[in-house]
Order: sequence, then C-alpha cells, then structure tokens
Amino acid sequence: MSGKIVTIERHILDKQRKFPQATGELTSLLYDLALAGKMIANETRRAGLTNILGKAGTTNVYGEQQQKLDMYADSIIFKLNDHTNRLCAMASEEHEDLLEIPAHYGKGNYVLLFDPLDGSSNIDVNVSVGTIFAIHRKITKGEKGTMSDVLQSGRNLVAAGYMIYGSSTMMVYTTGNGVSGFTLDPSIGEFLLSHDDIRIPEPPKFYSCNQGYEKQWTYGVRRYTKWLQGIDGEGHEPLSARYIGSMIADFHRNLLEGGVYYYPGDVNKPFGKIRLLMEAQALAFIAANAGGYASDGVGDILDVQPHRLHQRAPLFIGNKALVRQAEAFIRQHDQAWIEQYTPYREQTVIEA
Ligand code: AHG
Ligand code: MN
Ligand code: MN
Repeated sequence: MSGKIVTIERHILDKQRKFPQATGELTSLLYDLALAGKMIANETRRAGLTNILGKAGTTNVYGEQQQKLDMYADSIIFKLNDHTNRLCAMASEEHEDLLEIPAHYGKGNYVLLFDPLDGSSNIDVNVSVGTIFAIHRKITKGEKGTMSDVLQSGRNLVAAGYMIYGSSTMMVYTTGNGVSGFTLDPSIGEFLLSHDDIRIPEPPKFYSCNQGYEKQWTYGVRRYTKWLQGIDGEGHEPLSARYIGSMIADFHRNLLEGGVYYYPGDVNKPFGKIRLLMEAQALAFIAANAGGYASDGVGDILDVQPHRLHQRAPLFIGNKALVRQAEAFIRQHDQAWIEQYTPYREQTVIEA
C-alpha cells in the first residue's frame, strides 16, 4: 500500500529518534500540547451553542476584556502541564506573573510560554482563533524555574508552534528543523500530517496590517505600505490586502500563501501590541524555519533580549525580502522612532 499515515505522535517520535540523547520529555510535552489543542478546538466549535460565548466580565493584565474561551483555553493548557515533571515554569498571556507549578512537579527541564487564545475578539463572530506556544530549556541551576529561565531570547527556543481553530483545526510546529503542519481529523480525534516541510512560497501575495491605524503610523511604515501596494517604487506587482485581526490566522495564511504581517510601533504605542514572549518569538522561530524572517523594524526579533514578562514588540513577519524592505524604510525615515525604541530593545535589566 502506498502513502503512509503520519499521526502527530509518530512524527514527533520519528524526529526524536534522530537524537539518541533525547529523553522523550520534549516529545511528551508537544504531545500534551496537541491534546490541549484538541480540547480547545472542541470547545471553540461549540462556542456558538453554549453559554461559553460572550465576555466573562473580567479583564486580563493588559486591561483587555477576557472572553470565557480565553480562560478555558488558559486553564486547559495549565492543567495538562502542571503535573508532568517536564516543566519548571509556565507563563501565559492571561496572567501577570509566572504560573506556579506545584513544587513537587516543578523540577522539569523546560519552560512553556503561551497565548491560550489569540484573536479572542473574533470568537463572537465565528472567525478563526488560535493558540500560540513557545518552549525554552531551563538555564538556571536551582530546582525551581525563575524569571531568568522565562526571559530568554528567541535564539534559545527549542520548539514553538500554534494551533489554529478555523474551517479545520491545525497544529503547526517546529523544533528548529523545518516546520510541519497537521490537520485534525475530528472523526478519529487525531492530528494527521498534512503539510510537510512548510516553506513560505514565492512570490508573496498578501500584506496584512490594520491600516485603520495609519494616522498613528510613522512615516517609514506609511511609505512601506505604499511600496507594498505598488504605489511607491517600481518593479513589483501590488500585493493584495488581507487582515483578519487574529494574528495566527493572518500568519498562517501568509505562511502557506506568501506575504507579510505587520503590527508596527507607532507614535502612541512605540512598542506596538504583540507580546514578545507569548506571541512574537514563537512565530519568528517558525517563520525562520520556513525560510522567512521576523523583525521589530530594527533587527531580528529572535535577537531581542526580553526584560519583562509582558513586554511588547513591533512585529514585521513573513517573506524575508518584504520584512527586510520594512527595515530599510524605517531606517531611512524613522530615526526619531528608532531612537525612542532602541534603548528599550537593548535593555537587559530583568524587571520581575
Ligand atoms: P489576543 O487576542 O491574544 O489579545 O491577540 C490579538 C492580537 C492579534 O491576534 C491581532 O493581530 C491583533 O491583536 C489585532 O489587533 P487590532 O485590532 O489592534 O488590529
Ligand atoms: Mn494574541
Ligand atoms: Mn490571547
């Protein structure tokens, strides 16, 4: 019989076999995340039917209104990972501080960072949402995980991925050696390999940003957008605009079809909106492994040394040449913004 069926478990195990020194801990951690993805997908699908729909009436650490599904996703990921002995620390977009792992279980070698539900403002209108995760190795010597284990640069990531709850549910992940995509077959409850070795295709098709904010944008970002539209500069066809407002959905489309997503810093918000640790680093690692690139407008996002758990970063991500072009426009036109932003980028003091 030709054509093999590759479940996510088989795929993760096959990758692990190539590293004889691997203990299987990371394999199991990824598998637990896949299970969390299935559970969240299940609940997301029922969101329109059950009273899970709607705002829960509380706000997260950014002062944003939380939806019930955010909290459900948050607690599922925590509960599936707090007792496995694989983690020494967890951090979620929905919690101000590190998530405490019961002492007995919190001696693992890895750190898990996550955005439990990305695009939560889209739940009520039946638009794709997602989950983002990033995994670091513990770097401090003590038994417990500390802020230093969490505040690592993206260069140290050992794995990152996301689940997208769209017309189908997918899990996409990388351990630094290619990007693989799996589609959930709901009839059997398994993720099956559907997108092997994902590479961002050329030529790019789409640009994705919230152009409603153009008034606040720096001049360089405006000029860059005109360039993408083929209005400024010569030599390329205009790109199509697509913006869902769930970064995971915008990123996923551009990963498979080619393009660039950006959420720049602007005059009111020099650091933009996207969280460096729970969102930007993971997607930057995936983009880099698919032949793409992610920048904060100054340089590689993976080189930014985090100094605060909920730090934000401007983000330009996707096709490498398009992201480099954004950097060029910013370098040329936005010196004032660069001067305001760069000290923050280079700050290394850990603020607990
Ligand atoms: P989250 O739902 O986790 O808070 O993230 C929402 C983010 C991102 O997914 C999306 O691209 C962006 O916010 C949309 O923001 P705007 O409405 O400001 O464009
Ligand atoms: Mn998000
Ligand atoms: Mn979120």
